Amino acid sequence: MENAKKAVGTIDYPYTVGPVPEGKDVVLSVRNLAISFATDDGFVKAVRGVAFDLYKGETLCIVGESGSGKSVTSKTIMGILAGNAHIDSGEVTYEGEDLTKIAEDEFHRIRGTKIGMIFQDPLSSLNPIKKIGKQITEVMITNGNKVKKMYDNIINAELIKLKNDQRLLHLAKDEISFKKKDKNSTPEDIQKAVDFYNSEKIRLTPIIAADKVALAAKKKEAKKATDEFVKTVKARHKEKKAALNENVKAAKEAYKVAIAEENARFDKELAEISANPNNLREMELLNAKDVAKGNHIYNLGLIKAEFQPKIDQFANFISERRRYISELKVTNKEAKRRALKIMAEVGIPYPERRYDQYPFEFSGGMRQRIVIAIALTADPDVLICDEPTTALDVTIQAQILELINRLKVARNMSVMFITHDLGVVANMADRVVVMYAGKIVEYGTAQDIFYSPAHPYTWALLSSIPDVDSKEKLEAIPGTPPNMLFPPEGDAFALRSKYALGIDFKEEPKMYQISDTHYASTWLLDERAPEATMPKIVSTRIENSLRKAGK
Ligand SMILES: Nc1ncnc2c1ncn2[C@@H]1O[C@H](COP(=O)(O)OP(=O)(O)O)[C@@H](O)[C@H]1O
Ligand SMILES: [Mg+2]
Repeated sequence: MENAKKAVGTIDYPYTVGPVPEGKDVVLSVRNLAISFATDDGFVKAVRGVAFDLYKGETLCIVGESGSGKSVTSKTIMGILAGNAHIDSGEVTYEGEDLTKIAEDEFHRIRGTKIGMIFQDPLSSLNPIKKIGKQITEVMITNGNKVKKMYDNIINAELIKLKNDQRLLHLAKDEISFKKKDKNSTPEDIQKAVDFYNSEKIRLTPIIAADKVALAAKKKEAKKATDEFVKTVKARHKEKKAALNENVKAAKEAYKVAIAEENARFDKELAEISANPNNLREMELLNAKDVAKGNHIYNLGLIKAEFQPKIDQFANFISERRRYISELKVTNKEAKRRALKIMAEVGIPYPERRYDQYPFEFSGGMRQRIVIAIALTADPDVLICDEPTTALDVTIQAQILELINRLKVARNMSVMFITHDLGVVANMADRVVVMYAGKIVEYGTAQDIFYSPAHPYTWALLSSIPDVDSKEKLEAIPGTPPNMLFPPEGDAFALRSKYALGIDFKEEPKMYQISDTHYASTWLLDERAPEATMPKIVSTRIENSLRKAGK
């Protein structure tokens, strides 16, 4: 095995992340993301320049010890950062929009519909005093209002423009208070922020006014279009009802006529038999009358069979009314039908019975399934799972992982799976991103990370996975992650690494390219660095698993 790999070059990380492989589409991309939190002790630099792409249909795992910035990164994507957070830089692009620039209320359109998220503790995402069926259907009913959706879609672009421009102004204003709170700010810094706000105000005021005019016009247009839509659906319904009414009326008439004709025919036949032109004996005469009567009843049955369905059409249509209403919005009944289907899909047994139960009546694993069901009701493109199995025991953990895998394939979703345990994701990751101290230190395909890891931190994470077969003792990573109030200079992991070079303590390594898919930020990859081999425990494991895989 070749351990002492050297890079083929460097990339301009975090502004670029390397080429998108042929046949892959990027659903979500993060660039140069930096987040800090204002605290009484100063600024916690939680995320310090993170970039990655999420491909359509892949499972991207983000791995790193507690505190490495995984949750903060995913919360930024979801737009649910804590109030003391500050987005220092960066973009999160989804469908051409920068999610960091979308205002709170507007964000709802994407959060929970296009992008769903599940957390470590399912209880915190469930309402303890509401039946779970209700919690699942609630989302569907709000999302399923077609008229509202149509309205929102029409005014969307104008609304975003207004919110973005308003937000720019708010950001400029926030910057003033941010600078005022920052102990390191000089009066000049504060004045600069004030000046910037004033210039932004002058620049943006007329733009915002114009945005409002444009939005008002769009709202009018949207109202007209949705009114028209409702009118069309109602008219179509009315038309169908009238047409059916006509049909039913005609069928009833025809039915009456057919019955009358048959009655007349029977009366005539009976009269002919009674006239007895053939001089039948009494018994024969009675017999002939019985036969005629039997035929008559049979004929009436035929007529009924022919006309009854036509007459029933209307009644059937009434029962189809539900479908007509659901053209406008999701009804409670329809929502329940779908909820039961999704509950079955996520593996909740006896959905009918479970529907009316409260969260406390479920086990941890089942609760996580409910949370997944809720996330799925909106049919998201992206599912972010933040340590969804950390609170569960191993067997249940495996079941939830399998469920997420299955759903990903069945629904063609992209999954961002966050975990502190690299071992958890070995079987499900398509690609892996390794984070340390608010940065990405290595990323690549699962193959790259598990079979030719390059960063000493990744080696350390791999060494700490307990081996199932050999029961080999796991090697805890020495030391603790750094305090992010004072992020270390250079390679943040150097303090805990026996591979550290002198330069690691002074200068931050570039992002080195190992292959088109594999990148790592460690000086060991520099052509000037001395040869370094990964820890024996890691290389032995890799050899073992390669041997097992017959490679
Ligand atoms: N609201 C907050 N205020 C201050 N610090 C925070 C806040 N939220 C997160 N942090 C800090 O940001 C860093 C990254 O946290 P997080 O993303 O939650 O880590 P993890 O990788 O375990 O998910 C940690 O140092 C954490 O203490
Ligand atoms: Mg976390």
